[in-house]
Order: sequence, then C-alpha cells, then structure tokens
Amino acid sequence: MTKLIRGGTVVNHDHSQRADVLVRDGAIAAIGPDLEAPANAETIDAGGCYVMPGGIDPHTHLELPFMGAVSVDDFEWGTKAALSGGTTMVVDFCIPNPGQSLLAAYQDWRRKAEGAACDYGFHMAVTWWDKQVFDEMETCVKTYGINTFKHFMAYKGALMVNDDELYNSFLRCAGLGAMPLVHAENGDVVWRLQQHYLGAGVTGPEGHAYSRPPGVEGEATNRAIMIADMAGCPLYVVHTSCRDAHEAIARARTNGQRVFGEPLIQHLLLDEDEYRNKDWDYAAQRVMSPPFRPKAHQASLWAGLQSGSLQVVATDHCAFTSEQKRLGRSDFTKIPNGTGGLEDRMPVLWTAGVNTGRLTKEEFVAVTSTNSARILNVYPKKGAVAVGADADLVVWDPRATKTITANKQVSRIDYNVFEGFRCTGLPRLTLTRGKVAWRDGALCAEAGGGAYVARDPYPAVHVANATWREFTAPRGVARAEVTP
Ligand code: URP
Ligand code: ZN
Ligand code: ZN
Repeated sequence: MTKLIRGGTVVNHDHSQRADVLVRDGAIAAIGPDLEAPANAETIDAGGCYVMPGGIDPHTHLELPFMGAVSVDDFEWGTKAALSGGTTMVVDFCIPNPGQSLLAAYQDWRRKAEGAACDYGFHMAVTWWDKQVFDEMETCVKTYGINTFKHFMAYKGALMVNDDELYNSFLRCAGLGAMPLVHAENGDVVWRLQQHYLGAGVTGPEGHAYSRPPGVEGEATNRAIMIADMAGCPLYVVHTSCRDAHEAIARARTNGQRVFGEPLIQHLLLDEDEYRNKDWDYAAQRVMSPPFRPKAHQASLWAGLQSGSLQVVATDHCAFTSEQKRLGRSDFTKIPNGTGGLEDRMPVLWTAGVNTGRLTKEEFVAVTSTNSARILNVYPKKGAVAVGADADLVVWDPRATKTITANKQVSRIDYNVFEGFRCTGLPRLTLTRGKVAWRDGALCAEAGGGAYVARDPYPAVHVANATWREFTAPRGVARAEVTP
C-alpha cells in the first residue's frame, strides 16, 4: 500500500526540512516538497506535525523469567505498547541460564517473539563461560545476526559473571567484531550490603536503594571500561543511572575509548524518594536495578545527553505486576526487579527534554532512535527518514496532550511509574514498515506483524583469529582464557 505523508516537517538527527514523505512497499520511496500523490495512495495529513524516525528502544525484557516471576508484557503487548508511544523497534535480551546453550536461548526468544507487532532484534547474554560459549558466540554473530553480548556484573549467584569471565568474553567479542554490554553494578558489594540491611531489620523497598548506592555502579562501570580497554573492544553500558557512572564513561571517551552510555527515561525523571513512599506496593512497583537515585544525579544524565557523552535513552522495560512484586513482601531482595516505560519513553522525553529546551528536536531523534541504530549497526535501514530506509515513522504532534494513567495504558501492568505525568507532544500516527499501527489514540497494530532484524558484525576487528585454549591456572584463578 502506498502512502503520502503530506505537509509535515521531516526531522532527522542532523537536520529538519519541510517535506512530504512517500511510502511504498514498507520503505521510504521519496522525500521532497509537494510530492505528487500516486493513484490509489492514501494521503496522511501531517500539517503542524513532525515526521520522525520511529523510536528504537535498545533495552527491553519482554516475557522475561526473572526472580521467580515472568514479566507480563510479552512480545505482543510490549511491542503494541511501544507502537502506541512512537517506538517502532525494540532490542530484547536472550538470557540463557548459567550452563544453558546460547543457541537454545536464541531459539527460545525467537519463539517468544512470534507475536511481536513491531520489528525487533536481540542482544545475547553471557551468563557463564566455557568453550561451548566461546564457540556459540560465533554462531550468534555469523548466523543469527547478534553483534552485542550482555554481561551482568550484578545478581550474584544468578546471572553475574566474574572478571575472568568478563575479560574472556570481551576478548571474544573483539575477535568477532561484536560489542559487549554491561549491567554495571558490583554484585559482591551489593550482596554484602543486602545482608547488612536485612540484618539491621530493613526489609522494605527502601533497602533496595540503600544496598545499591551509586558507588557500586561507578566502580563496576570503571572496571568494565578498563577491561574493555585491555581486551581492545568497544563497550556499551546499559542503564547508566548516576553521575559516578556517567563520569567514568565521559572520561573514557575523552581518552579515545569507544564507550557508550544509556540512561533510562525513569532515571531522568524519578528519584529515590519514590522508595520512601509509605505505600509498600507503590514503592515496590518502582524497584529496579540500578535504583532511582538522589535527584542531583539527574542533572548529570541530562548533561550527558546534551553534550553527547551519553547517547541513547532506553526503558529497560521489564513489567512485573503488583502481585508479582509482592514476592518480596517481607524481604526487599526478593522483589522482582523491573519497571515499565515503553509507551511513555518518547512522550515523557519530549515533554521533559524538548519542551524545557534541554534537547532540540533533532537531538530528541538522535537519542530516541538514530544513535541506537548507529551504535547497534542497523543504520540507515532504521533510525532515519531517508529514501530506502524502512518506513518506521512517527507523525508527532507537538501540541497534543495527555496525562499518563495506568487505566488507559496499553501495557498489561496494573500501575505506571509516571502516573499523573502531563505530556505535551504525542504520536498522532505510528507506521511500522509502512503499516499504520497507531492512529489518533487508537491501536491498530497486528500481533505477529513485526520482523526479526539481524545485525552485522562491526567492521573494525581489534583482535583477529581468537582461538580457544584451555589451561590449568596455577592458583585456580582462571579456568580458561582466550588468546589472540
Ligand atoms: O531491574 C531491572 N533492571 N530489571 C531487568 C533486568 C536488568 O537488570 O536489566
Ligand atoms: Zn540490568
Ligand atoms: Zn535490563
């Protein structure tokens, strides 16, 4: 079906222009002033609106089994929520259990994603280390189109990897032209602090924030950056929540390292006072890792987005219901970690970022879409309003308003961490590869309409011909290493 989006202002990350956009067969066929409408084309009026690349959320957990619960927004509802808020691609995490095959995890996630309503890609988590993982990483890159590998430096006794595993995996990434991602919190220190606060009788959600201070994130971020430097690979730090972590990233970039940082929309707006709320459910609904920070950290994150030392805004959408959160009623360490935000990310960021003058509309496009596409190596197929690009587009009405409320959201959870937030700037229409998925407040996305997006390895290979070598470490320090 051919569509002509007429009368809007096309906004890309680097420039804006008054132009019409012609969409044909799921891709952008032409951009220019006063385009002729072909016969049978549907005309979409974008007068007074911006026509922007659909958002890319590089960090989601749809239908994730975690901490004794499974996040309730599956690929169908998570991606429908995304489309209702102007996001047209998500990148989710395949997370094998320690000891489980990466290839099996990939198949598992492909099956879960069959209901996706928008396009999606995967990161692969490295949760253990062995020759099997070393070998399967190659299949992920060369056969499955996964060029990013996630490492949890937290969640001790579950998903956490140690420095030996981190270094081996980072070397392997370098050899494969892949990029490691880290959840940067010092899991050993977190575990000790959790025991300390539980021992002192702190069992409520506030204990979650006390036991994960900014220092645990700053330390782990610095460590991961230095390990990446020694392994000769780039690094992407997920959910950068505090000044300590941001400064480590900014410093590394100043030194010439290729390090990327990803604040979440939640951390930009919400602070640790949320955990002091007397209503246990309210506070537990906001438990995620890293936790919301003292307000002063937010200025650092905004400055990072403005200056370019932080590149993308994500959600880490991992939606647990109030009932699921109650698994931790008497022990905060058992509250499933995660919050929602997929449908709110773009309207909230526009309101708090563009309408306040912190970000230009072009910078908004950069941090919600283009930078992710470039960093994850799917640009300009995604992240651009350009001829030949996928017609993943949002027609953005900067004057439209709404007040966020869980009662009206698409997400399946029963609360919203942005409840009551007044947004000005909303998608009037969202197109996923040329198909209308959201129009004037009505969802018309189709389950299963999304496609898997394979991503090529990065061209710059820093360590060539990495091979597996087993050895017996003299003091039992390492089980194996990768040598160039
Ligand atoms: O609390 C969070 N962030 N839950 C999802 C898993 C993760 O750490 O990203
Ligand atoms: Zn994480
Ligand atoms: Zn996450």
